[in-house]
Amino acid sequence: MAQAVGVIGLGTMGAGIVEVCLAAGHEVIAYDGYPEAREKGLERVRKGFARRVEKGTMEQADADAALARLSGAEAIADLRDVDIVIEAIAEIPEVKHDLFRELGATLQPDAILATNTSAISVTGIAEASGRPERVVGLHFFNPAPVMKLVEVVRTALVDPQVYADAIEFAEGLDKEAVPCPDTPGFLVNRVLVPMLNDAVRTLAETGADPIDLDRALKAGAGWPMGPLALIDLIGLDVQLHACEAIAEGLGDPHFAPHPLLAQMVEEGRLGRKTGEGFHTYEAR
Ligand SMILES: NC(=O)c1ccc[n+]([C@@H]2O[C@H](COP(=O)([O-])OP(=O)(O)OC[C@H]3O[C@@H](n4cnc5c(N)ncnc54)[C@H](O)[C@@H]3O)[C@@H](O)[C@H]2O)c1
Repeated sequence: MAQAVGVIGLGTMGAGIVEVCLAAGHEVIAYDGYPEAREKGLERVRKGFARRVEKGTMEQADADAALARLSGAEAIADLRDVDIVIEAIAEIPEVKHDLFRELGATLQPDAILATNTSAISVTGIAEASGRPERVVGLHFFNPAPVMKLVEVVRTALVDPQVYADAIEFAEGLDKEAVPCPDTPGFLVNRVLVPMLNDAVRTLAETGADPIDLDRALKAGAGWPMGPLALIDLIGLDVQLHACEAIAEGLGDPHFAPHPLLAQMVEEGRLGRKTGEGFHTYEAR
């Protein structure tokens, strides 16, 4: 059933989430705290639909109809009547708590409040909203229009009907909606982040060539991309932060980032985005 969706934060994830919701037939009101970022985000959504038409996966008329369901908001108050809001702003606990406090005071009582956080406690965000029974995590993967998975994060405080509605909403976006406990890293990152950290550990302890290590995991374990190339794609700074968040969240130093990773971040070798990480890339 088509719903009115509010998306807050129109960066990498938010713009993709807007595109996904529009493509599924929903009406979207999109807001970013920074007007320039809002315009950039809306432009990315338009480009996303142009790409679909170019590739032949969508008719021009359907792309036009989808974009006609999109509007930009000037303030949080403009989202007052949406059925569901999806937050994709900065990954800073206090900033998210402030926003959810405002959403809790602004939205209709039957609205669902969802956060796309990767590593912040959904329970903490739910508590800040003042209506924790209506808050879930909807953790999309990057790029949102391409990746099939949405982890639907369930806290101990959520109303079971709200949670069931959130699963149904995610499935209606043509996504694989996987129920997930509110634990550090949820499911995918809880497994993937430590595995990538172990790849760095193996590199540092064995002195293997990064190219060989990646070739070995591709040919021997069926990885579509080697683990070091994957860290380069994600960003070494993002991987460092993810290791720290999981180690801190679980209170287990085993998950702490390997010193080689921290050293490379210190040196500004962040992966593809800086042209150098475990491998070297053409400048973008
Ligand atoms: N990038 C990823 O691969 C990825 C994947 C899954 C989840 N996430 C999560 O999604 C969220 C957004 O990540 P991103 O990579 O899209 O970040 P981003 O920096 O690309 O975009 C964040 C946007 O939020 C806006 N913003 C910041 N503070 C705001 C506020 N208080 N009110 C309104 N707008 C505000 C910024 O202007 C910016 O446009 C984070 O919680 C992140 O952990 C990111």
